[in-house]
Amino acid sequence: MKISKTLISKEEIENKISEIASEINDKYKEEELVVIGILKGAFIVVSDLAKKLQLDVTFDFMSIKSYYGSESSGQIKIVKDLEYDIADKNVLIVEDIYDTGLTLSNLKKLLESRNPKSIEIFCMFVKKDVAEDPIEINYSGFEIGPEFVVGYGLDYNGKYRELPYLGVLS
Ligand code: IMP
Ligand code: MG
Repeated sequence: MKISKTLISKEEIENKISEIASEINDKYKEEELVVIGILKGAFIVVSDLAKKLQLDVTFDFMSIKSYYGSESSGQIKIVKDLEYDIADKNVLIVEDIYDTGLTLSNLKKLLESRNPKSIEIFCMFVKKDVAEDPIEINYSGFEIGPEFVVGYGLDYNGKYRELPYLGVLS
């Protein structure tokens, strides 16, 4: 397996993170915000975003596993839960990529049941037209095609997360 092409460059990614950070700064000025990064893929997006936020912000992380079999689809298992209580807080979920949408729609339901004041979603890469039952993504970095991508947090068998760009593997 090799990276066959760069789909989105380091510079494009850096510009996009700055753009989205300023939208988030505008939206939550004067408010408290809890940023929830979904491990492992979102660790790079969260750290790049964090450096651009000028807000009253705390960071927490969650690790979940999704099941896709027909019988168990719609299930997520919490591998690592949040440390903070999000009741009455403004929550921003940060995820690496939106593919079938199952992970985020289930995670959103789960976090809603903890009674936050608000929930928004920032997803760095969104695969077009894949989700059967799409949910609203409030901030999306880049729309991409259905091909399998790595880099900027995304892995193939645990590898390639460290690449500063988004690449196609083939
Ligand atoms: P969803 O529930 O199908 O939206 O799953 C999203 C999760 O699948 C992401 O958090 C990634 O871990 C993984 N994933 C989906 N597409 C890709 C890809 O192209 N490259 C690497 N991981 C992917
Ligand atoms: Mg993931």
